[in-house]
Order: sequence, then structure tokens, then C-alpha cells
Amino acid sequence: MAESPLEDQLTGLLETFEERLVDVAVANSPFVTEAARHIISAGGKRFRPLLVFLASRFGGHVERDDLMRAAMVMELTHVASLYHDDVMDVADLRRGAPSANRLWGNSVAILVGDFLFARASTTVAELGVEYVHLQAETFARLVQGQIAETKGPGEHDDPLRHYLDVIADKTGSLIAASARFGGMVSGASPEVLDALTAFGEEVGLVFQLSDDLIDITSESTGKTPGTDLREGVPTLPVLMLRADADPADADLLALIGGDLSSDESLASALSALRAHPVMGRALEEVKRRAELARAHLAPLPAGDAKEALLKVCTDLVERTI
Ligand code: FPP
Ligand code: MG
Ligand code: MG
Repeated sequence: MAESPLEDQLTGLLETFEERLVDVAVANSPFVTEAARHIISAGGKRFRPLLVFLASRFGGHVERDDLMRAAMVMELTHVASLYHDDVMDVADLRRGAPSANRLWGNSVAILVGDFLFARASTTVAELGVEYVHLQAETFARLVQGQIAETKGPGEHDDPLRHYLDVIADKTGSLIAASARFGGMVSGASPEVLDALTAFGEEVGLVFQLSDDLIDITSESTGKTPGTDLREGVPTLPVLMLRADADPADADLLALIGGDLSSDESLASALSALRAHPVMGRALEEVKRRAELARAHLAPLPAGDAKEALLKVCTDLVERTI
């Protein structure tokens, strides 16, 4: 294993992982299997498994089955959350395919998400109690982040702080847990585990910030562009505009805050926002946070795995992953 370059090893791991992911979604009825495989088979970057695999290079020996289990728990939790997320966001499209809620309705989509989360629970139990503990803490953060997003900031909350706290909980937590799981299965030291976790938390923020930006900028995400705007979930550029309170932006803010249910109104809000300089400032902030993430890797030993984690930060900003 040590002889082939890291990329070849990762490709091999991801291939095995893919086979196991499809198998773990098998249910008692063909219908549930089909519905549970729907989002899995539609694609996905497998970003969390990749982080588990890379982080596992910073400990000692790792059992391949445990490595697969750790990656599985993270990806299943992620996919389960997407089934629920698309119900809450009334989303029609996921990974270029019709969402589960669109195909089978909200109840089936929620219950299939629960089914996949149950599969994650079985797998995490096989790893041991510390893993169950971290998985449960992470789940609690995911859910609380999502509830905070749904409720919005309180009267005395700073909306930008609220947004950053939401994305730390709903996204950063699971990405941080992925990096930590990788360290744990390889028996990494407490210092390494903490560095990996801090890196994962910050990378998670970068991931969600750039995901929110491409919700505005891109037509080819496999999701309907502008979903956040339409659902009234303000993300970084909109929050920056509101914080500036520049009278010149009043019309744009009124447009964004108005009824965006028609395709025409959403398209005009999106094109006005895309043309605004605040988009460049938001991207600068994403780059700044990517640098913070890279700095967390300082205590880790140099090598191909560290280089790969550094590259993850660049790729997220340039959104090649
Ligand atoms: C995507 O956000 C959603 C999340 C990151 C997690 C939301 C959390 C839950 C639904 C609770 C977890 C439930 C289970 C069963 C694990 P987004 O809407 O901003 O992303 P999108 O653009 O991909 O839709
Ligand atoms: Mg969503
Ligand atoms: Mg959402």
C-alpha cells in the first residue's frame, strides 16, 4: 500500500467505499432500497469520506474495514441530512436529479433520511463508544444549526454572527467529525486529533460559504440556483449588503427581500446580485477563511497527505470540488 502514490490509493479506497455505500442502502423492501439509493446514486463529491481517508494518514496503523466504517458513518449522515434538507427547503432538484420529496412526497423523504441515519448508527456502533459519542454530539449540532437557520436571528442577534454559527453547526460539525474520525481510526495522538478537528471545522465553514456563493453564481450545481434567496435564507453577500446599509443598495435589497416565487423575479434578483461588487468581497472572505483552515495544519507532519489537505482548501475556494 505504501508504494503507490496517494492519489491511486484514494481512488482505490473511494471505489471500495462506493460499492459498500450502495450495499448499505439495501432495505427490506425494493421500494425503500430504491428510494434510499436515489440520492446516493445521483452522485456527490464524497468529500467527507475523502477527508476521513486523508486524516487517517496522520496516525499509525489503520484497519481497512474501520476506515470504511468511519467514512460510511459520515457519508450516510450527510446523505440522510440531504433528504431532510430538501423537504425543509422545498427543493425540487438534488445532484441533478429530482429530489426525493418531489418524487415520493415529504413523508417518504423524511423517513428514508431516518432509514439511512439508522444505517449510520449500526455502523458507528461497530466502531465503538467514543465514535458513537462524537456522532451523537455531531448530530445534535447539525439539528440545532438547522433549527437556528429555520428560526432566524433573534432581535438582539447580529445576523452575520448568527449565520456563521448556523453554518458551523449544520456543516462544520460533520466535516470536523470526518477529519477527527480519520485520525481516530488510525490511532492519532490527541494533539493531531485536535489539529485535524480544528482544520475540519474551518474547512466546513469554507465549504458552506462557497456552497452558498455558488447558489447565487452558478447554473450548474445540480440544484436550483437561488434556492436560498427564494426561501428567504440570507447568506454572506446579502448579509454584507444589509450590514453596509448603503442607500444605493436599497432597491436591490428590496428586490431580494420581496416575493421571489416566480422564476422571472428570482432570475432578476440573481442577476442583480451577481453583478454587484459585494460578490467579490464575499469571495475574499471565503479566501481569508481558507487561509485560517490551512494554518490549522501547521502542527501536522509534512508529506503527501498534508499537501492534499492544503489543496482541499484551494479547491474549495476555486470550487473545483
Ligand atoms: C444543507 O444545507 C443541509 C445541511 C448541511 C444539514 C441540515 C441538517 C439537518 C437537515 C438535520 C440532520 C438530519 C439527519 C437525519 C442527519 P443547505 O440547504 O444550505 O444546502 P444545499 O444547498 O445543499 O441544499
Ligand atoms: Mg438545501
Ligand atoms: Mg437547507
